[in-house]
Amino acid sequence: MNAIVAVDKNWGIGKNNDLLVHLPSDLKYYKERTLGKCVIFGQRTLESLPGGRPLPKRDHIVLSDDPTWTVAPREGYACDVVHTKEEVLAKAAEYQAKGEEVIVCGGASIYELFLDDCDGFYVTVIDHVFDADRFFPNLDEMGLKVTWESEPMEENGYQFTFRKYERV
Ligand SMILES: NC(=O)c1ccc[n+]([C@@H]2O[C@H](COP(=O)([O-])OP(=O)(O)OC[C@H]3O[C@@H](n4cnc5c(N)ncnc54)[C@H](OP(=O)(O)O)[C@@H]3O)[C@@H](O)[C@H]2O)c1
Repeated sequence: MNAIVAVDKNWGIGKNNDLLVHLPSDLKYYKERTLGKCVIFGQRTLESLPGGRPLPKRDHIVLSDDPTWTVAPREGYACDVVHTKEEVLAKAAEYQAKGEEVIVCGGASIYELFLDDCDGFYVTVIDHVFDADRFFPNLDEMGLKVTWESEPMEENGYQFTFRKYERV
């Protein structure tokens, strides 16, 4: 399984249940990496998506601690709400058995929960320190290696690069 995330210089990822910054090139990259695949979300991040709806053209597995919470799927794609890590992994295995890639998409508690289940991490590194209240584990300190990095990019006054980290 892989994960995808955008972090600032302190590995901050969000504030007040929203992203730290909206960078059009990063959103395009995110779409390319996740379209047609299975994405794993926590309830809070799913609720922060436009209209509080699942993303189009992606199968969703959503982890929630609320047994009464439901969310409607997008046409042609599934959106399963489950309540334990084991249920997430069982659903993910069903998609993988069909050859569908599964990507952990956050937020903070979901990244933490599935950190050890992920081999690869697509990390957008933004060269800025934001006032964040949610963080991703520091993969440099954990000894993971950067196996690919894009050229530096700049948008809306922010510099950033796309990296892939792997357990090598
Ligand atoms: N920069 C990025 O790439 C990126 C990507 C995604 C999200 N984000 C940001 O991350 C933030 C949201 O992260 P978050 O940690 O607050 O929320 P979250 O991870 O999106 O969702 C947490 C939800 O999952 C439930 N949950 C967590 N572990 C569980 C378990 N073991 N069993 C059952 N339910 C479980 C939580 O229940 P409890 O309430 O009981 O904990 C809560 O309902 C937002 O600011 C969002 O914008 C950033």
